[in-house]
Amino acid sequence: MTKAILSAKDLSINFGGLKALDSFSLEIKPGELVGLIGPNGAGKTTVFNVLTGVYEASSGSYTFNDQMIKNMATHEIVRLGLARTFQNIRLFKYLTVIENVMIAHDYLQNYGFVKGALRFPTFWKEEKDLFNKSMDLLKIFGLEKYYNTQAGNLSYGQQRKLEIARAMATNPKVVLLDEPAAGMNPNETNELMDMIKFIRDEFGVAVLLIEHDMNLVLGVCERLLVLNHGKTIAQGKPQGVINEPEVVEAYLGGTNEEDQNE
Ligand SMILES: Nc1ncnc2c1ncn2[C@@H]1O[C@H](COP(=O)(O)OP(=O)(O)OP(=O)(O)O)[C@@H](O)[C@H]1O
Ligand SMILES: [Mg+2]
Repeated sequence: MTKAILSAKDLSINFGGLKALDSFSLEIKPGELVGLIGPNGAGKTTVFNVLTGVYEASSGSYTFNDQMIKNMATHEIVRLGLARTFQNIRLFKYLTVIENVMIAHDYLQNYGFVKGALRFPTFWKEEKDLFNKSMDLLKIFGLEKYYNTQAGNLSYGQQRKLEIARAMATNPKVVLLDEPAAGMNPNETNELMDMIKFIRDEFGVAVLLIEHDMNLVLGVCERLLVLNHGKTIAQGKPQGVINEPEVVEAYLGGTNEEDQNE
């Protein structure tokens, strides 16, 4: 059996009195397409925040490629090959589309700003390579014709795609997508489905997808984990999982936020 590339065991984290994650475990193998679903407030984004070093879990361990990442800074984790997108889009709105992707490449490779300022002879060649590589990524996400547009002027759906292109520019082995279809129309969501499958097939990247749009989840994911109140309540093949009574109940039972107010 193939070994997991991303592995988390018994993660817990509290915010005040709230157990946002309660002994949460996860294993992702290279190239897998896995869904992380659950009602609002279940703890899904918190999983991403813990895995990428935004928050430190109060207990449990997590490794990437057998390396402990628990005490690592976010940029070190990105360099290892774990990239993410954000539920609330984070782009450089006043930079162009291509600049947003070039900076993400740059972040990884360290060519760029210092050399650029000093105009070393190698700078122009590297700049051209970087531009071409970034254009290749934009093509995958259907954004190449907007390369010179300010990112803030793209539609919401296009901005979400640009976020994924930026994540891919860091050459990840695993990419964490936090509600990439939020705000997309059905047509854009269908395109997104193909794009996610394409990046897996083309780059062998594994994807962990947080998403409320069940068409996308069922269209993309080979396996699901369902979170509720910070705990995994079901996991396995998508069709089976979404029909489990506890999962149906979690979704129908209202959000956790409402539960807490009861
Ligand atoms: N920094 C924080 N401080 C305090 N509480 C937090 C913090 N981050 C998350 N929480 C709480 O932890 C719980 C889990 O939040 P999280 O954002 O992980 O949920 P989610 O599953 O991503 O929900 P949604 O589908 O609405 O995005 C929620 O009750 C949330 O209010
Ligand atoms: Mg969330």
